[in-house]
Amino acid sequence: MREANDPGAHGADDAPGALDGITRRTLAHYERNARQFFAGTIDHDVSQNIGALLAAIEAPAPFTLLDLGCGPGRDLKTFSTLGHRAVGLDGSAEFVAMARAYSGCEVWHQDFLHLDLPPDSFDGVFANASLFHVPSAALPEVLAALHGALKPGGVLFSSNPRGHNEEGWNGPRYGSYYDYPTWERHLAVAGFVPLHHYYRPEGLPREQQPWLASLWRKPNVNQRTERSNHPA
Ligand SMILES: C[S@@+](CC[C@H](N)C(=O)[O-])C[C@H]1O[C@@H](n2cnc3c(N)ncnc32)[C@H](O)[C@@H]1O
Repeated sequence: MREANDPGAHGADDAPGALDGITRRTLAHYERNARQFFAGTIDHDVSQNIGALLAAIEAPAPFTLLDLGCGPGRDLKTFSTLGHRAVGLDGSAEFVAMARAYSGCEVWHQDFLHLDLPPDSFDGVFANASLFHVPSAALPEVLAALHGALKPGGVLFSSNPRGHNEEGWNGPRYGSYYDYPTWERHLAVAGFVPLHHYYRPEGLPREQQPWLASLWRKPNVNQRTERSNHPA
């Protein structure tokens, strides 16, 4: 593991080809293990995270949501059952097919490092256990793409395994593991305002809570104007 980049810093593996190689290897792991992953995670209870995202959105329901790194579609199905318009996105072709079949939702086959998203389109982005796979050198661009895809006032949810700002290979998958202050700096650079964060699973001592969940708003136009009118 090497130290994860602070916002704005550049590391040794920043060459675009190197980053693509990292994501290809990680995705190949999911592709090979798609069926086992589905069986092992279909019953995971992430209702706390889904509830946190939906509660933070201020627009009138139903919402248009992007499930970023949707895997085989467990949460897409929940969003859709709740009456929202949910679109999935994943880099594994196997997961894309499974998520379409399981949820009946539209699912886009895209790599986080080459996102092509419609601007100002989503009330919420749900990134459950997915953004930690982005190497820190690529994170600013990915967060900027998500910011651009959210409607003004829209909300980004992320849940990631936390750490001490290190990144590297964890077996066949690459991961970046941030503490909250560093994660907040990355989100702030991308233009997000913090709403709140919590650690999971619920109700355990902190050392038994490996997951950091956090919610972020893309300021709406009025908020941006109000801020820029304030004297420094
Ligand atoms: C730990 S799984 C989480 C899946 C699902 N969100 C859940 O909570 O069960 C990470 C997901 O991110 C996807 N992923 C990882 N790296 C990616 C990349 N570079 N581009 C697109 N998807 C990626 C994987 O295919 C996988 O579906």
